[in-house]
Amino acid sequence: MNILILGSGGREHALAWAVMQNPKCDKLIVAPGNAGIAQIADCAAFDIEDGGAVVAFAEENAIDFVIVGPEAPLAAGVADRLREAGLLVFGPSEAAARLEASKSFTKEICDAASAPTAGYGHFTDAEAAKAHVRANGVPTVVKADGLAAGKGVIIAMTEDEAMAAIDDMFGGVFGGAGAEVVIEEFMEGEEASLFVLVDGEDVLAIGSAQDHKRVGEGDTGLNTGGMGAYSPAPVLSAEVEAKAMDEIVKPTMRVMAERGMPYQGVLYAGLMIKDGQPRLVEYNVRFGDPECQVLMMRLGAQALDLMHAAAEGRLAEAQVNWADDHAITVVMAAEGYPGSYEKFSEIKGLDALPEDSSNMVFHAGTKTQDGKVLAVGGRVLNVTARGETLQEARDRAYAMVDGVDWPQGFFRRDIGWRALK
Ligand code: AMP
Ligand code: GLY
Repeated sequence: MNILILGSGGREHALAWAVMQNPKCDKLIVAPGNAGIAQIADCAAFDIEDGGAVVAFAEENAIDFVIVGPEAPLAAGVADRLREAGLLVFGPSEAAARLEASKSFTKEICDAASAPTAGYGHFTDAEAAKAHVRANGVPTVVKADGLAAGKGVIIAMTEDEAMAAIDDMFGGVFGGAGAEVVIEEFMEGEEASLFVLVDGEDVLAIGSAQDHKRVGEGDTGLNTGGMGAYSPAPVLSAEVEAKAMDEIVKPTMRVMAERGMPYQGVLYAGLMIKDGQPRLVEYNVRFGDPECQVLMMRLGAQALDLMHAAAEGRLAEAQVNWADDHAITVVMAAEGYPGSYEKFSEIKGLDALPEDSSNMVFHAGTKTQDGKVLAVGGRVLNVTARGETLQEARDRAYAMVDGVDWPQGFFRRDIGWRALK
């Protein structure tokens, strides 16, 4: 099989690493890719949000299977264009990708499916939104309806904060994403993510993970795209997972199919779990980043077979071969992230690190120049390891982190603390 992966982050490096291990992969191209990906696959540059450009590239390069990493090409209809051209693709249609691109859409699907989630109101003007907050009290959660690069969610502890957030969103702070606002009941509990493959009809859970969104140790400080993750998530026990599948994932996927928008790809269910009961926080229509890195570390080569089965509608006959293992990834970021940071500092020591089925440094934001590896992003490296226990995986990952010579970088020392406690 000739395979094309779209994307350029640590998530796509991990996908490429898993796919390359599968003998069914004859050739792999990643667009646009990054310096780490370039060590294991060909990289190509074209606009991955332009469906016509993706189709043309896939046809010219005799691609048999396209795997879409990030949400933006999906929300732009790239999977639809590929399917129309008769190409096999892993990733939902533009219509189904609204599960990530519109929060009110997802809430409405949850209503139709009777799936447990936070109570909410959906508003197109500030006055009605404010009246809802006054009537329902705080804490509450104010969300821009559309895609806002992970920044469109404000947890308001006071009524003043909620009112300010509503004014900001309708005032255009998040551009068009904030033209509609969803106000949700604040849910308490522990968060975890469940990853499920869906082929339009059948579903297959392929693992759970927890990430650390805050920049600082002890889960403090500003929100980031994720400073580390581990899999499995202890809070997602077999019982809780079964409830999440039966009460949330399967009913919502059924509603999507009934409405003529069958979902195909990976569904990332962000869950809040309290007293053994999961409720949906959000859906994403792609793998999490950095959660994908720990999932790929655990799944290895079978990840390709599973994604291929989802794309071909064969999930009913697919199964996951579970190893009883744990994986962890530690994000190394540029000093200053998630605020402003310097680019082009040199990273040394990577060549001496182990690279095998239990140890891997995935690149998220690097570039090679004159034989040197340079940092060119906020999140730069995802140092990932696997072990029989989470402790073993953690010790391996931090041993690698300590081998990276990059004075301009930083990382959290406490990834996995909740699960190790
Ligand atoms: P979202 O982009 O919807 O995942 O929101 C980002 C983060 O905000 C989530 O990962 C949660 O930590 C938090 N969050 C979102 N909605 C709620 C809610 N209704 N109750 C409590 N926390 C929430
Ligand atoms: N790590 C969170 C996300 O990928 O959305």
